[in-house]
Amino acid sequence: METVVSGIRPTGNLHLGNYFGAIKNFLKMQDEYKCLFFIADWHSLTTHPHPDNLQKSVRTILAEYLACGLDPDKAPIYVQSDVKETLELYLFLNMNAYLGELERTTTFKEKARKQPNNVNAGLLTYPTLMAADILIHRANKVPVGKDQEQNMEMARKFARRFNTIYGCDFFPEPASFSGSAEPIKIPGLDGSGKMGKSEGNAIYLIDEPEVIRKKVMKAVTDSGPTEPNSEKPEVIQNLFALLKVVSSQDVYEFFDEKYNSCEIRYGDLKKQLAEDIIGFTAPIRERIKEISSDAAYLERVAKTGAEKARESADATMREVRRLIGFR
Ligand code: TRP
Repeated sequence: METVVSGIRPTGNLHLGNYFGAIKNFLKMQDEYKCLFFIADWHSLTTHPHPDNLQKSVRTILAEYLACGLDPDKAPIYVQSDVKETLELYLFLNMNAYLGELERTTTFKEKARKQPNNVNAGLLTYPTLMAADILIHRANKVPVGKDQEQNMEMARKFARRFNTIYGCDFFPEPASFSGSAEPIKIPGLDGSGKMGKSEGNAIYLIDEPEVIRKKVMKAVTDSGPTEPNSEKPEVIQNLFALLKVVSSQDVYEFFDEKYNSCEIRYGDLKKQLAEDIIGFTAPIRERIKEISSDAAYLERVAKTGAEKARESADATMREVRRLIGFR
């Protein structure tokens, strides 16, 4: 069975866009592949030398993924820094990673521009650490977005290079894949293309009903259609896109017909949408609260995850050392 490795950045709380994008995919993948999920806490040091409460952000993201249905019995979930074997592979990969190619990476150039006073070696070697995360389990597939494509190309290059230098066929070339289910793009409520944390237009899974109502009621609309069956402008399409994922088919069709006959009242649509979002997120929010308050459970998940990941990492590293010529 093919192995899938997926890294999660511990940045803040999950929103609906994350849920219908990456997470739904993870839920499907964990049934179809040998998956390993990890929280990339080392990587955060490349941009934040003093991570604000690193432990807390790691636990938060772990609790939220578990609440969404990631199942540690199906696939280990571990914290990157619990599997030190990765560092040894990172070192070996760095010995055959060239300054020129690392400097040419777009993400490096971008971050170097953003933080000119902290262009550190970790930032430069971000792609080798990411390659180590993947190759340590000899993964075949990695679900990543477009923004990670160059890092994935580097990972493949490092895998090939290792095989060539040490005359072996040890590392598979990890393929990027969009996942088992085509991710649904969730729009923002401000009329902009995409829901995102940095866009400031997100509905979080932990948002209380009152907060959700306020956010939805503030969503941008237009003055309404004047011709029957007219095409929906983007801001209206966005509202319908949300209805599509959280409401029943009936509700969706009801408002679609109202739109087509120019009788739509956006206030009614928003009220319904808010209630349906609340209905959808409420059970997840409850589970997040439950899981977050159970420190022992979180500890156990992370510990078991790390043990399983280390088993796989250890097997890889024994072979890597032998191939290079150590012991
Ligand atoms: N670079 C990824 C991101 O920014 C996170 C990541 C680190 C990752 N290591 C990984 C993703 C290994 C997949 C596999 O989202």
